[in-house]
Amino acid sequence: MEMPFEPYRIKVVEKIQRVSREERVEHLKAAGYNLFRIPSEAIYVDLLTDSGTSAMSDLQWAALMSGDEAYACSKSFAIFRDTIREIFGYKHVIPTHQGRAAEGMLFTVSLKPGDVVPNNIHFDTTRANVEHTGAIALDCIGPEGLDPAVEAPFKGDMSLTKLRAAFEKYGVDRIPFVMLTITNNSGGGQPVSLGNMHAVSDFCREMGVPLIYDACRFAENAWFIQQREDGYAQKSIQEICTEIFSLGQGCTMSAKKDGLVNIGGFLCLEDDEWAQRVTNLLILREGFPTYGGLAGRDLAAVAQGLREVLDPDYLAYRIGQVARLGRRLDELGVPHLRPTGGHAVYLDAKRALPHIPQAQFPAQVFTAALYLEGAVRGVEIGSLMFDHKDPDTGETVHPAMELVRLAVPRRVYTHTQLDYVAESCAKVMEIGPRLRGLEITYEPPALRHFTVKLKPVGGGKMIAEG
Ligand SMILES: Cc1ncc(COP(=O)(O)O)c(C=O)c1O
Repeated sequence: MEMPFEPYRIKVVEKIQRVSREERVEHLKAAGYNLFRIPSEAIYVDLLTDSGTSAMSDLQWAALMSGDEAYACSKSFAIFRDTIREIFGYKHVIPTHQGRAAEGMLFTVSLKPGDVVPNNIHFDTTRANVEHTGAIALDCIGPEGLDPAVEAPFKGDMSLTKLRAAFEKYGVDRIPFVMLTITNNSGGGQPVSLGNMHAVSDFCREMGVPLIYDACRFAENAWFIQQREDGYAQKSIQEICTEIFSLGQGCTMSAKKDGLVNIGGFLCLEDDEWAQRVTNLLILREGFPTYGGLAGRDLAAVAQGLREVLDPDYLAYRIGQVARLGRRLDELGVPHLRPTGGHAVYLDAKRALPHIPQAQFPAQVFTAALYLEGAVRGVEIGSLMFDHKDPDTGETVHPAMELVRLAVPRRVYTHTQLDYVAESCAKVMEIGPRLRGLEITYEPPALRHFTVKLKPVGGGKMIAEG
C-alpha cells in the first residue's frame, strides 16, 4: 500500500504502553463505558481527538522560548496578530484560550433568545454555545453530507435550499449571521467547496447578514479544494485561504487543530462594534486583549504553527495518512464514512452493529469495544453526543448518523500504529453480533457525552456469551 511520505524526522519520543485486557475491562467499568473517563496511560493509541494533541516542531519549541510575557502589547502578540491578518485577512484579531471561548464570546454579544444560527453542521461546543444564549442552532447540510455511503468530493457543502428555507421560516431579523464549518467535523471531516462558499456568501450578502467561518481545519479544507475543485490545482494553499476568508466577515478558530499547538484560539472580525463588545467581554473573562487567556509563548507557537500548516508537503502527508487508514479499514471490511475526512476516519456504527438501536448508542458500544480489543480510544459522534429535542414538538431526535470518529493527531503516530488500529477495528467487527447496547446511569444537563456514565442494557457484560 502506498505510504504517504513523512516530511519530518523524529527528535523526541514519549513512551506508551498497552495495559492488559483484564485491566481494560476494569477501566471500562470504572469509567461507566465513557472513554473520556479513562486515564491516558491506559490507552495505547489515542484517537479521541486531533485537538490539542499535535506534536510541535523544533521551530515551535524555539518560538516558545522566545515568547514575550509582557502583560500588555507583547512582541509575541504582534507576531500572532500579523500572521493571522496575513493568512486570514481580517481586521480584528482577538486571542482566546481555545475555540469555544471565541464562540462563546461572539455568541454572547450577537445572539438573543429566539435567534437562529444556520451552519452546515454545528460542532458540539458550537451548538451548546448557541443554545446557551437561548438561540437555535440549525444544521443546513446538503443531502450528500448526510449519507455515509456517498463518495462525493465536498460533502461539507451547505444546502442553499435549506438556508433559504431558514430565512423564509424565521425571517432575517432572527438570523444575525450564518456559519460555515471548514472542514465539517461532525459530518465526517468533509470539506466545503469554494463554489459553495461563494454561493453561501452571495446569499448572505443578499440578505445583509455576515458569514462567519468556524475555521478550525481551514488548511485541510484548502488542501482538499486544491486537490479536488476545478480551477484550483495551480493555486497555492495561501491563495486558496485568501479567497475563502475574503468571502466572510470573520471566523472563530481553535488553534488546537490547524494551529498545530496544544492550546490556543482566536476570533477574527471585520465588524468594529462586535469586536469592541467582544474585547470588553474578553477582559472580563479571558484576560487583556493582547493575550486573551494565553501566555506570550503560546501566541508565538500558534504564529509558527499557522505558517507550518500551509506547507503542501505537510498537508499531503497529513491527509494521506488518514486516507491510508481508511484504505486499510476497507481491506479489513470495516464500514466507514466515505470518503475519509481530513483529520479523521469515521466508522459507520449503524452498519457495523445493525442490531443495536440508536436509543442504545451503537457508536458508543463500538467505541467501548475498540478500547476493550485494542486499548485504542476513539470518540462517539452519534446519539450520545447529538440527541436533541425537536424545537417544535419537544420529541427526542436522533442524529442521522452513528459514527465512531478516529481522529488522527498531527505528526504523532506512525503508519504501523495506525495499521494496528485498523486491525483492532476488525476484531470488533468479529465480535460485533455479540455486543450489547448501553443505557445511561448518569447524565449532566449539557454536553452529556463528556461526563455521562453508562452500563450494558439490563446489566451484566458488554459482550454476550456465545
Ligand atoms: C469544528 C469545531 N469547532 C469548534 C471546536 C471547539 O474548539 P476547542 O476545543 O478549542 O474549544 C472544535 C473542537 O474540536 C471543532 O472541531
